[in-house]
Amino acid sequence: MTQFHGKTKICYGRYALETLEELPSTSAFVVTDPFMVKSGFAEQVTSHLERRGLPHLTFAEVEPDPSLETVMRGTLDFIRSKADLIVALGGGSAIDTAKAIAFFARKAAPDLPRPLLAAIPTTSGTGSEVTAISVVTDKKQGVKIPLNDELLIPDVAILDARFTRTVPPHVTAATGMDVLTHALEAYTSRENNAFTDILAVQAIRYVFSFLLKAYQQMEDMEAREMMLLGSCMAGMAFNNSGLGLTHSMAHALGGQFHVPHGLANAVLLPYAIRFNSFDAGVRYRELARIVGLPHSNVEEGTSALIGAVQGLNEAMRIPARIRDLKVEEAAFRAALDSMAEHALDDMCTRSNPRRPSLTDIRALLEQAW
Ligand SMILES: NC(=O)c1ccc[n+]([C@@H]2O[C@H](COP(=O)([O-])OP(=O)(O)OC[C@H]3O[C@@H](n4cnc5c(N)ncnc54)[C@H](O)[C@@H]3O)[C@@H](O)[C@H]2O)c1
Ligand SMILES: [Fe+2]
Repeated sequence: MTQFHGKTKICYGRYALETLEELPSTSAFVVTDPFMVKSGFAEQVTSHLERRGLPHLTFAEVEPDPSLETVMRGTLDFIRSKADLIVALGGGSAIDTAKAIAFFARKAAPDLPRPLLAAIPTTSGTGSEVTAISVVTDKKQGVKIPLNDELLIPDVAILDARFTRTVPPHVTAATGMDVLTHALEAYTSRENNAFTDILAVQAIRYVFSFLLKAYQQMEDMEAREMMLLGSCMAGMAFNNSGLGLTHSMAHALGGQFHVPHGLANAVLLPYAIRFNSFDAGVRYRELARIVGLPHSNVEEGTSALIGAVQGLNEAMRIPARIRDLKVEEAAFRAALDSMAEHALDDMCTRSNPRRPSLTDIRALLEQAW
């Protein structure tokens, strides 16, 4: 049996924030990062809670690549707050933290009713507002731990592109390449289906049409809106299809060297496409046709797609190699074996179109160096 699951109610556009005034809850716990408080974005969100007379507490300690320690502090604060609504405001890091808080609170206090979870993304990247995944970093071990559970899927996603207008170009670039990687990996996954394909293809079209515009013109609201929709669509796709080897290697590299998630994907994606092309070449050729690239045969389509990914990276000043990501060579070589092992064990490897061996992954990481 083939299945497509989409639990999250998606509200988007100019008045989408008003959804917060309609949720059945009695008090709210807002999870966000310090930038959202400083920029006034958090206040824009809480003003809607206040309009309804809803008491609220704000936990604004989220850092990029949220740590287990932050999640545990947030979980304790949340349980004490007795709130029945969690509002996540921020990039993937804030949304993942909020989801992990809801998850661990449920484990720690199973008698408490499950809170409603509303996610408001401020980057066009992870798609975390619709996925069952939360990535938490164990900073002591230097590894990213992906939690995957139905409990983590937000009930409501609120997409308002005005929150993404302030994303600086280098973050727009990295998070946008994360969207492209989600969509490409969903489309070529072993577990793709007709529904995930449609969402992945539309996300890929949006990225090729609008990412560079959003990067070059921060205030291009059409580009911002389309990237936010594309990010959510790619999230819906990969939540059902799973991802692939680019993500497995990016998790290993990011856990070890704190390379931002989207940047790690952007650098590794061309190498992974080439590696996968033996099994997924026909699919890459289809994508090349869809986005208007040369595609007279599988080789030409695959190469054109790799060239287009590299072209986007270059135009957004994303390096082509790991060595240009402020990673020290000796440390990289020392960590190669353990990164390859982590990538092989990563859940994303299961849905990769080509089954890699440990040696394959090690060789790919070396190639990307
Ligand atoms: N849950 C999932 O399905 C999923 C998928 C992929 C990645 N992830 C995880 O998500 C995290 C990355 O999330 P991200 O790429 O969205 O970045 P992020 O949330 O870490 O944010 C990156 C930086 O951008 C800033 N920022 C966010 N929104 C902004 C705005 N509107 N204006 C200005 N600055 C803004 C943040 O303050 C932060 O400093 C990683 O931990 C990654 O592992 C999760
Ligand atoms: Fe990702």
